[in-house]
Amino acid sequence: MKPIGPMMWEHRLIEKMLRQFEGAIRKINDSNRVDTVFIDTAVDFIRTYADRTHHGKEEDILFRGLAKKQLSPEHARIMNELVEEHKHSRETVGKLVEAKERYLKGENTAQEVIAYLKELAQFYPVHIQKEDKHFFFPCMEYFTREEQDKMLNEFYEFDRNMIHEKYQKVVDLIEAQSL
Ligand SMILES: [Fe+2]
Ligand SMILES: [Fe+2]
Repeated sequence: MKPIGPMMWEHRLIEKMLRQFEGAIRKINDSNRVDTVFIDTAVDFIRTYADRTHHGKEEDILFRGLAKKQLSPEHARIMNELVEEHKHSRETVGKLVEAKERYLKGENTAQEVIAYLKELAQFYPVHIQKEDKHFFFPCMEYFTREEQDKMLNEFYEFDRNMIHEKYQKVVDLIEAQSL
């Protein structure tokens, strides 16, 4: 299997989650109330799964490998765009968290929360399409079969560490809060 196989499966789960945002937006609009538990779950999904686990493999393994190759100008341009888009999604999630925090303190930030959920739901599928349709397959051509096999193993190793990293962070956070 090519290393982009698992990356594309991950895209499908991210898309599924983003589709749930539409219903959440409707509920906030109808009630003018924010379901902060949903926001926390969505933020955890994006930060832990979409960003740390998925973008982590893209940036730390795939893009790092590509950076050592003589990329065509088009592929180099797309790779830079993808990195910028990852940054944009991190920033948007940060703003979403900040708006939710203000909501919990009593400010009605429902429309801000909607705006950031919409931004993520609209921008991310375009990012995924760019990778699936214009980047992943041609990029594999830069790697030998052996390099692809090695990359797939690096992906698995990266994933293996994620559950430990995630819960180490959870405990660190709780410890810090209890000081
Ligand atoms: Fe990406
Ligand atoms: Fe991706």
